Amino acid sequence: MAVEQERDPFTGHLTTGHEWNGIIELNTAVPKVIYIIFAIFFAVAVVLWILLPAWPTGKSFTKGLLGEDQKTDVAAALAKAAARRRDWAEQIAQKPFAEIQKDAALMSAVRDVGPALFNDNCAACHRRDLKGQKGFPNLTTDHWLWGGSPDAIFDTISYGVNSANPKSRTSQMPAWGRDKMITEADVNDVVAYVASLSSRAPDGSSSAVTAGKAVFAANCAACHGENAEGNPDMGAPTLRDHAWLYGGDLATLHETVWGGRQGHMPTWESRLSVTQRKILALYIVDMRGKAP
Ligand code: HEC
Ligand code: HEC
Repeated sequence: MAVEQERDPFTGHLTTGHEWNGIIELNTAVPKVIYIIFAIFFAVAVVLWILLPAWPTGKSFTKGLLGEDQKTDVAAALAKAAARRRDWAEQIAQKPFAEIQKDAALMSAVRDVGPALFNDNCAACHRRDLKGQKGFPNLTTDHWLWGGSPDAIFDTISYGVNSANPKSRTSQMPAWGRDKMITEADVNDVVAYVASLSSRAPDGSSSAVTAGKAVFAANCAACHGENAEGNPDMGAPTLRDHAWLYGGDLATLHETVWGGRQGHMPTWESRLSVTQRKILALYIVDMRGKAP
């Protein structure tokens, strides 16, 4: 069907003859600039086909003149990362703690790897924030059962406490009441004395505290120290602070002294490498005081 051509009176262009609700379409040419842009894009595409991997050819593909291959790029990057890792892992395994602590690059590796290692192996007992829970010590304070130097912490991690490792640290808070090592009255007195040490108002007469002091000197000072300051050789905690492993209220103190306590920390010697254990020791020292 022939379309009647009309000329638009305002622009002088022919129209296509199509009309929609009074709007008439002009029959103008596509602007040249569009053809030029098309031509440029096509030329660029041809160049890229030649330079880069592009067309499938059955079992293979056109490789391109640049030899670009993202698979080999990834493999090279992985090999580089592994080499870097081998480098710092070996340095951490071999250098003494003091030297590692002075090396910013090694410490940044410790801070990168430490949290994941801790969360995977230790957080179940010591919590992700390292602050522990009842029976599992807080690792962010200045008070240590077994010493807070990187070397002491490394040994605790490696051998454990009361663990199956032949080099395990061993400790035992005796069951003074249950095993009838002291009388029930002595237990009550010494509990009153211990409670008074951390400046908790002693719940009992001061005569109990005085009597408890004598019970303490005779029975407890050997492990906890004359002033109850603790002794890392025995794994005996200080009893003067507010950081309680089991609890500092009178009922819990009574339970501890009556029934005894024996914490178990697993040995990691055969489960974690020397590098991993050193990273954990340094991570714990590094986190001290930083934990929110
Ligand atoms: C099954 C629970 C458990 C797990 C898992 C565990 N610990 Fe312990 N950890 C303990 C207990 C319990 C103690 C306290 C032992 C004691 O009473 O002397 C302890 C003590 C410690 C101490 C000594 C604290 C001090 O005051 O001297 C350090 C350090 C420590 N753990 C680090 C770690 C690290 C690092 C890991 C992970 C590799 C880990 N623990 C995993 C239970 C655990
Ligand atoms: C043979 C050494 C030894 C003697 C003696 C000893 N203790 Fe302990 N005591 C320990 C050890 C080790 C622990 C830590 C137990 C653990 O880590 O599970 C401990 C823990 C405690 C705790 C728990 C502290 C906390 O943070 O929750 C109290 C309280 C305590 N002892 C009081 C006493 C009193 C009171 C006496 C004397 C009647 C006494 N101890 C005698 C070794 C001893």
